[in-house]
Amino acid sequence: MPSVSIIDPAAPIPADTVVVGVVPGERGPRLARGAKPIDAELGRQLTAALRALNATGRADEVLRIPTLGLAPFDVVVTTGLGDDARNPESIRRAVGAALRTLDDRATVHVAIDGPVGALAEGALLGSYRFTEYKSTATKPALRRVTLAAEDDAQARAELKRAKIVVEAITRTRDLVNTPPNDLYPASFAARATEFATSADLDVEVLDERALKRNGFGAVLAVGGGSHRPPRLVRLAYSPRRAKARIALIGKGITFDSGGLNLKTANMDWMKSDMGGAAAVIASTCAIAALRLPVEVIATVPMAENMPGGAAYRPSDVITMRNGRTVEVANTDAEGRLVLADAIARASEDEPDYLIEASTLTGAQLVALGTRVIAAMGEPRWRDQVTAAGNSAGESVWAMPLPEELRPGLDSPVADIQNLPGDRWGGMLVAGHFLGDFMPDGLPWVHLDIAGPAFNLGAAHGYTPKGGTGAAVRTIIAAAERLAAS
Ligand code: BES
Ligand code: MN
Ligand code: ZN
Repeated sequence: MPSVSIIDPAAPIPADTVVVGVVPGERGPRLARGAKPIDAELGRQLTAALRALNATGRADEVLRIPTLGLAPFDVVVTTGLGDDARNPESIRRAVGAALRTLDDRATVHVAIDGPVGALAEGALLGSYRFTEYKSTATKPALRRVTLAAEDDAQARAELKRAKIVVEAITRTRDLVNTPPNDLYPASFAARATEFATSADLDVEVLDERALKRNGFGAVLAVGGGSHRPPRLVRLAYSPRRAKARIALIGKGITFDSGGLNLKTANMDWMKSDMGGAAAVIASTCAIAALRLPVEVIATVPMAENMPGGAAYRPSDVITMRNGRTVEVANTDAEGRLVLADAIARASEDEPDYLIEASTLTGAQLVALGTRVIAAMGEPRWRDQVTAAGNSAGESVWAMPLPEELRPGLDSPVADIQNLPGDRWGGMLVAGHFLGDFMPDGLPWVHLDIAGPAFNLGAAHGYTPKGGTGAAVRTIIAAAERLAAS
């Protein structure tokens, strides 16, 4: 990852490559704010060059213009900001889209007027690469990024925050991208421990014996069919004078084969089924690094859902951490089971707020597509977290929990079953199942990130293929709001 620093817009440009923004205008492409000094270096020929290239200024349009010795930098890279050009998220995406293409340049200067936080996040998120498993990876040439901005206290604070947020997203992406033969419950717990220790958090890892002793029936059942036994990781950040105690929970299924109800679709990307867990672990470390005055306790169940000889079966009845019983209607609805155990455990800490993130249902993709996070839960807190996420640049949409969907989870033999007889509103039904384990009066929210956690399509904006880091910015922003209240 390159270094990022702030440089006065009037100072000489210290890079071989300069990024400027382009916006769509009524009579063709226009340069965005911040490009003036660059255009001046080139005799005000940039707009004409854009016209010659048929540029439009749409998002994800990135073009290179050589400066042919006319300027002290070799190349100008233009990036489309789209119609909503002043929106920090448009800026984040445009800078990200440019930086995704600039591995071969050593030093890059971003001359786009905008909040330093968004510029820095876009640049760093866009320069993310996952090359761990390439035997011959060519190292990116990119060493340094400078941002044209006034170097005041606010800019410095935004830059510092951006680096922390990006580190959390990068860790989440790396964990999600790591193949499941290397990332399994024990190794995942070890990596969580490493991160947490360096962030000065308290860490507790329950292995399979401790899980049994402590009544985590669902984590053990779901993890039973794998040779890699399950874990439960607990991280705690306890600053002095905390404004609130937040419970974070994330689904950590390191691979979801479906179990005995073996998947017939989507198994090829089920290494991403721990995206919620990764986001929660990384966000907890980030909240600590930001020194937010909120207490955070993360409870993260980790298991591999496999169909081995000791696998749990459809029609098994599991006794959960809180003593309630669940009939297993389908072993592929495993996420809500391990999460219910985690919710029960997290509730014992008597948190003031709870945020849970999970790649929980295929129905989320049907409802909202691949990029929009679904939020369900206690309405006021759900809406606060939704607003926090949207302000941080994630797309989050509040969803209802219609009461008529709850009776479908009634079981003829146990207290509740993990899947109803029909498939309607599958995302909301999963939300209801989790809600059943929430204590009365606790403001809770469930973020379904099934689609957003993993990009199967082409890279766009600052989002690469594969792990995206979904939910990290939402969780951090929600914690910041509580810290500021
Ligand atoms: N991990 C999956 C959800 C999922 C599906 C995430 C596709 C990302 C992409 C979850 O454990 C699951 O299998 N859900 C099933 C539930 C089914 C048994 C009703 C689903 O949504 O298909
Ligand atoms: Mn499943
Ligand atoms: Zn799953």
